Amino acid sequence: RPSVPLLVRTRAELSQARAALSGRVAVVMTMGALHAGHASLVAAARERADAVVVTIFLNPLQFEAGADLARYPRTLDADLALLGGVGADVVFAPSPDVVYPDGDPAVRVSSGRLGGVLEGASRPGHFDGVLTVVAKLMHLVRPDVALFGQKDAQQLLLVRRMVRDLDLAVEVVAVPTVRDDDGLALSSRNAHLSPLDREVALVLSRALRAGEAAAPEGASAVRRAARDVLVGEPLARVDYLALVDPDTLDDVPEHFRGPALLAVAAKVGPTRLIDNLPLVVG
Ligand code: PAJ
Repeated sequence: RPSVPLLVRTRAELSQARAALSGRVAVVMTMGALHAGHASLVAAARERADAVVVTIFLNPLQFEAGADLARYPRTLDADLALLGGVGADVVFAPSPDVVYPDGDPAVRVSSGRLGGVLEGASRPGHFDGVLTVVAKLMHLVRPDVALFGQKDAQQLLLVRRMVRDLDLAVEVVAVPTVRDDDGLALSSRNAHLSPLDREVALVLSRALRAGEAAAPEGASAVRRAARDVLVGEPLARVDYLALVDPDTLDDVPEHFRGPALLAVAAKVGPTRLIDNLPLVVG
């Protein structure tokens, strides 16, 4: 097993590297600026496959025009060093013209209703862009298994639905959210947080924990407990707090009992953060 992964940039280089891999192949798709959350996906991939391909591609299709894409941290050298330490075999880091040789694709994957709620309500077109690139990378890499983080619960759900609805021959595996010791979910966007903003950002995970603690008392108690924590931190501008069915993303009714997803999104300074916690209500 090489300690330095093979870096490939073109479709030809990728297909040559892919042909040299034997046994079960896993893929971990990323946008770079890698951290311990991504490393945990690669470690989980190692356990399930003989070879691991990591893709690093900042997909323009999933960003709204302009600012957020330009601001996204780019750290390829550090990313390659991290991947060497966790046992990735191949790193596919294409440029946009390799992935989209004809420019913006005329035909895209439609994420439908599930892609229009929660994150999708604030980011129109985002999940169509995500699913389009995930489908393309699945076809280019041809993995047996693909690993996605629970951190992006709606993305994980949509990838699972795409694989089912479009009969993609790949197993999807979820990996739990990796957090800092103080509870903050790791995210590439945390690099933008000032020391003060980072303190403010802790309100997301604190709200989720408060909701979880209230879960035995029912859905209304979960929502109230989480909301109470969020209003205590006016510097976090809450986009949504939702307690939803993990498969439909519909709000669960007041007297619901069973597995649910508590999800939150907020802006802290200029940085938009998301977090979620699966819990059992009642
Ligand atoms: P990115 O944000 O780089 O995330 C890549 C993968 O790492 C995703 O599956 C994400 O859920 C997971 N991840 C991020 N932070 C995590 C954490 N703290 N704990 C566990 N897993 C974590 O998600 C994307 O890129 C893109 O949308 C992509 C799927 C690559 C398509 O462009």
